[in-house]
Amino acid sequence: MKKNQVVMEDIELENGEDIEKDVVEMMPTKGKKPSTITDLPGVGAATAEKLAAAGFDNLMSIAVSSLGQLVEASGVSEAVARKMIQTARDALDMGFESGEEVLKRRERVQKIKTGSKAIDAMLGGGFETGAITECFGEFGSGKTQIGHLLATRAQLDDPEAIVVYIDTENTFRPERIRELAEGVKLDPEKVLRNIQVAKAYNSDHQMLLAEKIEELIKKQNMKVRVIIVDSLTAHFRAEFIGRGTLADRQQKINKHMHSLMKLADTYNILVYVTNQVMAKPDMFFGDPTQAIGGHIVAHASTFRIYLRKGKKGSRVAKLIDSPNLPESEACFMVTKEGLIDF
Ligand code: GTP
Ligand code: MG
Repeated sequence: MKKNQVVMEDIELENGEDIEKDVVEMMPTKGKKPSTITDLPGVGAATAEKLAAAGFDNLMSIAVSSLGQLVEASGVSEAVARKMIQTARDALDMGFESGEEVLKRRERVQKIKTGSKAIDAMLGGGFETGAITECFGEFGSGKTQIGHLLATRAQLDDPEAIVVYIDTENTFRPERIRELAEGVKLDPEKVLRNIQVAKAYNSDHQMLLAEKIEELIKKQNMKVRVIIVDSLTAHFRAEFIGRGTLADRQQKINKHMHSLMKLADTYNILVYVTNQVMAKPDMFFGDPTQAIGGHIVAHASTFRIYLRKGKKGSRVAKLIDSPNLPESEACFMVTKEGLIDF
């Protein structure tokens, strides 16, 4: 009894965190190399369930998670989360890949053509899968039209392709899809059947919808090839007003962009997002507009296209950011059938 007390006092000299660290260090790794989440130290059935509900359902998702995300999702302590991440990383082959392997992965990239040769050339052949393309520009510049066009044309060389359309401004028009489908001789009814439309009522709803897409793919076996978010920033812009809320807004947009990026990357999906511009009254030269969402959206997008109205009803698209293509411009018109060169 006395002996025990001494031991207790010894421990109390350390702070709680240190003790926890020791306990976690001693946690057994459950036998052989982990292959599922429940093989990780500290993960019982209840924790596994919480993790799954937050989208952590395989070792890779744990291995690439941040400490904070994991703690928030599972309710375990930081020390346990750290151990989980470390064990998942050890269990997976997480090293480098050779340039050859990257090239092989690039080979699965498909390109969706727009009908305008100029735009396709500007994009090196069309809108790419496995990437996020952002279009920003003033009202009526053609952002929504391109969204409808991609939703339709995704089904040109893959009739089974599913399109997810997250509509935040209530501008999705099935009639327009029908017209565009007829323009490329696709069955309009079939095209419409393959488009899953969800209206997002606020920014949280929008983020949740994006997170639910993985379920469509995994649980309902949908072959999602294109995701459209039109508009990416409208709700955020309307809900977060004033300077003080900017950090919160950017953090949420960042999280949203990351879940879209993960989908694009994991499932080789073409993600198309639209973005408004705001006036920059202090700008005297050049274009006095600026995209909403700032650097966060800009960095997370693989390709960025600036759209503006041109002469005689034409539209001008300018590729301003791309990992492998030069800056260039394309002039086009929106017609009944789709887009044509101007
Ligand atoms: P905001 O969402 O208001 O910021 O604009 P946006 O950039 O999404 O513009 P949108 O794509 O909706 O419209 C661009 C232009 O396409 C319009 O100004 C029209 O000239 C044209 N357009 C829109 N709908 C149709 C249509 O059904 N048929 C044809 N032929 N042209 C259309
Ligand atoms: Mg629009």
